[in-house]
Amino acid sequence: MTNKPYSQACENNKNYILPVLKQAFSASVKVLEVGSGSGQHAVFFAQQLDHLQWQTSDLLVNHEGINQWITEYPSTNLLTPVELNLEHTWPVDNVDAIYTANTLHIVSWSLVKRFFEGVQKHLASAGKLCIYGPFNYDGQYTSESNANFDIWLKNRDEQSGIRNIEDILILADIAGLTLKSDHEMPANNRLLEFVKSK
Ligand SMILES: C[S@@+](CC[C@H](N)C(=O)[O-])C[C@H]1O[C@@H](n2cnc3c(N)ncnc32)[C@H](O)[C@@H]1O
Repeated sequence: MTNKPYSQACENNKNYILPVLKQAFSASVKVLEVGSGSGQHAVFFAQQLDHLQWQTSDLLVNHEGINQWITEYPSTNLLTPVELNLEHTWPVDNVDAIYTANTLHIVSWSLVKRFFEGVQKHLASAGKLCIYGPFNYDGQYTSESNANFDIWLKNRDEQSGIRNIEDILILADIAGLTLKSDHEMPANNRLLEFVKSK
């Protein structure tokens, strides 16, 4: 029994995210996950969405934990992590789907911009992008818990913080993406589903 990293939030949200990915990625083949974290989403989604090839990625520091999850819950369609640091070029070929959860409020705004540049470069035409996490609307928090979470984030790293959906949509537009759906998720989170239209 390995001492794997564990995220309770992943266990709580994975069953809500799954039906959205099932529909959004129904015609996709290769998915790149940016910021796989513990690896819990990857092992679950790869098992549940077996028509996909699921490529995990993260900073090197998280690879051991992701590999522990993959070793314990292997799937033939699940690939061990590549080192994808948003500060650098992405070590991947083109994919037709990209998924990221709870990353855009963690990295700095300049890395959020780099994320969308990477999506523009690596996501095939008509490819899908799904982003899970909390967002603000009209510059307002959607709940008191998100407001408190934002304070907590900024105390930890002043460059992090909950992003305004309007700013995300501007970057998405520049990257050639159109918002197809803004899915409401439990615990004041959203799942933004984009399609690459340009
Ligand atoms: C809050 S965790 C989310 C992990 C997982 N997706 C989840 O939902 O539990 C944020 C993730 O962003 C990753 N991250 C932080 N800085 C990054 C960077 N510069 N490039 C790529 N990923 C980064 C972290 O390593 C971590 O896996």
